[in-house]
Amino acid sequence: MGPSTSRPATRPETAGAFAGYAQASPPGHDTELAEVGPGTPGGEFFRRYWHPVAMTGEIGELPLPARILGEDLILFRTTGRQDRTDEIGLVHRQCPHRRASLAFGKCEDRGIRCCYHGWLFAPDGEILETPGEEDDDKAAMQVRKYNRLGAYPVIEFNGLVFAYLGPPDEMPEFPHYDAFAIPGIETRPYRADYACNWLQVQDAIMDPVHTSFLHSTISGAQFSAGLGEVGVLQFVERGTQFLGVDTRRVGDHVWVRVNELVLPNFTQAGSAFAADGTAARYFGRSSFTRWVVPVDDTHSVALAWGNFGERGDPPKYMTKEGCELIEQGELIDRTWEERQRRPADSEAVEGMGPISAHRGEHLMPTDKGVILYRRRARKLMREIASGKPAPQPQQVPGEPVRTYGQDTVLKMPVRDNDDRAFLKKIGAAVVELQFAAEDLPLEDRDRKIIDGLKDLEAAGAP
Ligand code: FES
Ligand SMILES: [Fe+2]
Repeated sequence: MGPSTSRPATRPETAGAFAGYAQASPPGHDTELAEVGPGTPGGEFFRRYWHPVAMTGEIGELPLPARILGEDLILFRTTGRQDRTDEIGLVHRQCPHRRASLAFGKCEDRGIRCCYHGWLFAPDGEILETPGEEDDDKAAMQVRKYNRLGAYPVIEFNGLVFAYLGPPDEMPEFPHYDAFAIPGIETRPYRADYACNWLQVQDAIMDPVHTSFLHSTISGAQFSAGLGEVGVLQFVERGTQFLGVDTRRVGDHVWVRVNELVLPNFTQAGSAFAADGTAARYFGRSSFTRWVVPVDDTHSVALAWGNFGERGDPPKYMTKEGCELIEQGELIDRTWEERQRRPADSEAVEGMGPISAHRGEHLMPTDKGVILYRRRARKLMREIASGKPAPQPQQVPGEPVRTYGQDTVLKMPVRDNDDRAFLKKIGAAVVELQFAAEDLPLEDRDRKIIDGLKDLEAAGAP
């Protein structure tokens, strides 16, 4: 399916009443973008980047089954011993002997032991022991020497376990984002599972206008009340980084909120609860630092940190429930009636079905961010399939990636009768200030942006 798939498959001549019969066959999905199994262009795309695959706290003394990019895997932790620390392994679920599941394996000091005949595997997949066979048996020696359990490298970082599932010789540096170390911000890891394809979950980040409807007028204020205003939208594409800038008028204040996506799946926004558009805020940062990870074609998981403190969300939300509210505006475990009365992101995106029928979409100007990032993702999938290297966000080794998800609220009263044009200029000026400071060391950069925003406010107009 080619790039034209976001248009309806058939365009009726006239939109006659009772068009159900004419549209009874469900439209198809965008196979190229949505499908992520082994060997697909989408799967290969994701396999060129590090992704979180679990929270560290989920991996205890028992093996943890996980499914990522259509593969059944096991996460486990070695039990450690005096001369080595615990290690986390991410391996294929099926034992290479006779395919027993390592979900029933035993975690030991050197690796994981299969329950069926006791083969022992190291975190890197080496077959360490085949204890049922004679030590000098030739077949057993050969299998230990020449075979491996499938395994992937992992990095545990601040409560999340990241993995790289691609070709070892193309493994990129683990990317550090500025969001990993914002002074005064405390983090809490969280996960939110979605029973649907990754693309429809990720689309929401480049769709800032849904906040004015789903999270405000439709379900009541699930985040700050000021988000109910419909702002002026602008979208920015810079390589693999995409920004959705929503600039709202709230009384005498102008609220510039920036949603952010770094391909393939890193997302940030402004705060969920710390800003309401009525009080000044200068370069407040995202309430979450989050990756949308495909589990398989019909499931995905958001793995993230909630960010708390003066430039994040209020610390009272630093709980499991608080993180659920940040993730989607409501608690995850709700009755059907609660979900119908106050739908949140799960209802919006899972309600599209296991894989949304993209050929039945009618994309509008407010969907421009979705259009832009999907187009770029499709291009990258094709380039990677043709052998090109995947562009990494961390272009300067050792330097954190600058991110832009933020809230700024400035006191700038209405000046003339074209306030929408005024808002647009302010939104553009706020983003420009961020870009202009991006080469500075991080602390200087934040100071420069904040000072620039205060100057803009004092000037009263861009
Ligand atoms: S099936 Fe795992 S050791 Fe035999
Ligand atoms: Fe949302």
